[in-house]
Amino acid sequence: MNAVSKLDPMRDVIESDRAHVWHHISQHKQLETVDPRVYVEGRGMRLWDAAGREYLDSVSGGVWTVNVGYGRESIANAVRDQLVKMNYFSNAAGSIPGALYARRLIEKMPGLSRVYYGNSGSEANEKVFKMVRQIAHRHHGGRKYKILYRERDYHGTTIATLSAGGQPQRSAQYGPLTPGFVEVPHCLEYRSQWGAIDNYGERAADAIEEVILREGPDSIGALCLEPVTAGGGVITPPKGYWERVQEICRRHNILLHIDEVVCGVGRTGKWFGYQQYGIQPDFVTMAKGVASGYAAIACTVTTEAVFDMFKDDPTDPMSYFRDISTFGGCAGGPAAALENMRIIEDEGLLENTQRMGERLLANLRELQSRHAVIGDVRGIGLFCGAELVANRDTREPVEEKKVQAVLADCLANGVIIGATNRSLQGLNNTLCLSPALIATADDIDRITAAIDAALGRVFG
Ligand SMILES: Cc1ncc(COP(=O)(O)O)c(C=O)c1O
Repeated sequence: MNAVSKLDPMRDVIESDRAHVWHHISQHKQLETVDPRVYVEGRGMRLWDAAGREYLDSVSGGVWTVNVGYGRESIANAVRDQLVKMNYFSNAAGSIPGALYARRLIEKMPGLSRVYYGNSGSEANEKVFKMVRQIAHRHHGGRKYKILYRERDYHGTTIATLSAGGQPQRSAQYGPLTPGFVEVPHCLEYRSQWGAIDNYGERAADAIEEVILREGPDSIGALCLEPVTAGGGVITPPKGYWERVQEICRRHNILLHIDEVVCGVGRTGKWFGYQQYGIQPDFVTMAKGVASGYAAIACTVTTEAVFDMFKDDPTDPMSYFRDISTFGGCAGGPAAALENMRIIEDEGLLENTQRMGERLLANLRELQSRHAVIGDVRGIGLFCGAELVANRDTREPVEEKKVQAVLADCLANGVIIGATNRSLQGLNNTLCLSPALIATADDIDRITAAIDAALGRVFG
């Protein structure tokens, strides 16, 4: 430490950060003149930065993660106790929390029975892609290798998951991408591809079938969808959509992969987003909220029928799932996840999410009645979005920099909100809100009051 940093240790942290940390999804030029944000403490829904400023976090750690809020000592203690007892062995062997969490999770997911541990949402999704490919090789003579994904959905940051991503700005400049992934149309009725129709949900599902028939059902192994599209604009599925999607998958013998990396573990007010729509998936992936960011853990969950396909011929040395994730063996992950789940149950956080989610939606609709710039409000549970438009009649999106100005205004006033960004050219215009599941009525009202004031200042 030099003389200055001894006087101000936070200055030392900020300068070290500026000099050496490469931040995620950030243009660094601006950080040459503006201090990088460094958060130093969190309690419940609140955060404090290095300058001691307090913030209300309406995005659960920026990316829908800290579902049970900051500063949970009981999770920290559970992880600590596990780490000093047995921190790690490859998941080729079992661990006490790994076994117990798998059972607790499966109790909440009727019809599913097997949990494969990994360490990120991208990885959890790639596991499914590998399983689908291996099933194609072993059980369909190499056919059924294609994986369908939906326009506007996101499934991760690796090259293969970007290849399954429906957000062209995210994959731009990272090609060539992985072959065998095919896009199906989005299901955002506000931006209907078929004009104003009565049965938009069924039409959007039928559009998936059109792609299946074009590609040949015999070539398609799985359909990968978010239950509610997150970073692509908080797209709640239209009425009739999911029933038809499930029916189409069954008709063409296509496995249904639901990406619950954002919706999973309470975000929508049920344990899983798919449970809002009566779907029976073949694969469910989850990460972020599984341990609320207290430890890195991801789960790929599937059925006994899928699992059985990987042990059908023990005499064949290539017959099992030949995959490993080093950090999928960290015992701290499931230890944190067990305690995270206990908190959600004991504190009634699913019920709170339903109640506070209704309040958040109602508040946003009230803002919509006063701010012409809010074209559409969508959401379920504590997972809401407000799409900003320059013109309500034409639905022309506002410029991305105006959306960012709303975020900056809220931040300057102590409320952290989110928005779709650099995902879909010209359509990065949705404010995103995903407060922790512990949010109170006061928190919700403060968040929407900050947005109200920011919209007034930015749009007049
Ligand atoms: C729906 C969805 N799936 C997958 C991912 C990737 O998760 P991770 O960043 O943990 O790899 C994300 C991340 O935001 C996501 O929103």
